[in-house]
Amino acid sequence: MSDWKQNLQKTRYVMDGLLLISFMLVSAPQSTGVPLHEWGSLLFVVPFAIHILLHWDWIKSSYRRVSSKAPMKEKFGIVWAYLLYLVMLLVFVSGFLISIALLPALNIDIQIQDFWSKIHHDSATLIMPMIGIHLALYWKWIVKFTQRMKENRA
Ligand code: HEM
Ligand code: HEM
Repeated sequence: MSDWKQNLQKTRYVMDGLLLISFMLVSAPQSTGVPLHEWGSLLFVVPFAIHILLHWDWIKSSYRRVSSKAPMKEKFGIVWAYLLYLVMLLVFVSGFLISIALLPALNIDIQIQDFWSKIHHDSATLIMPMIGIHLALYWKWIVKFTQRMKENRA
C-alpha cells in the first residue's frame, strides 16, 4: 500500500479510537455531572468533525455509490452513516435547547421545554445502538488494523 494511504488509515484508526472514548465520556452525564457533560459535548465536535473530514472523499462519492450496483452491505453502510449524522444533529440541537450550564454561562436565556428534554433523552438513547451497528459494519477492518498496530506493521 502506498505511504500516504497507509498513513491515512493509521490516522483514521487513532482518531476513531479518540472519537469512541470521547463519545463514551459525553454519554454519561450521570457520572460526569451535567455542566461537564455540556462543555465536553462542545469539545466532542472536534473529533467528530475530524471523523467526517477524514472521510470527505467517501462523502463526495456516496451519492453515486448508493445509486450504483455496489454491494448491499456498502449501500446499507452509506444510508446508515447519513441516518447517524441526522440523529447526531438531533442530539446536539436538543442538547442546546435544554442547556442549564453552557448557554446560561454565555448569557443566553432559554425556556426549557419538556418536549426537547424528551427528544434529547430519546435521541441520545437511540444513537448508542446505532453507533454499535456502525462499528459492527467495519468490525473486520477494526480487528485487522488492531492486529497490525499491535505487531507494529501499520
Ligand atoms: C462514536 C462515534 C463513531 C465512531 C467510534 C465511529 C467509528 C468509525 C469506524 C471505526 C469507521 C471505519 C474505519 C474508518 O474508515 O475510519 C467509521 C467509518 C465511517 N464513519 Fe464513523 N464513527 C462514529 C460516528 C459516526 C457518525 C455520527 C457519522 C456520521 C456522519 C460517521 C460517518 C462515518 C463514515 C462516512 C465512515 C466511512 C465509511 C466507509 O469508509 O465505508 N461516523 N466510523
Ligand atoms: C454527543 C452529544 C451528546 C450526547 C451523546 C448526549 C447524551 C446525553 C445523555 C445520554 C443524557 C442523559 C439523558 C437522560 O437520561 O435523560 C443527557 C442529558 C443531558 N444533556 Fe446531553 N448529550 C449530548 C450533547 C449535549 C449538549 C451539546 C448539551 C447542551 C449544551 C446537552 C445537555 C444535556 C442536559 C442539560 C442533560 C440533562 C437532562 C436532564 O437531566 O433532564 N447534551 N445527554
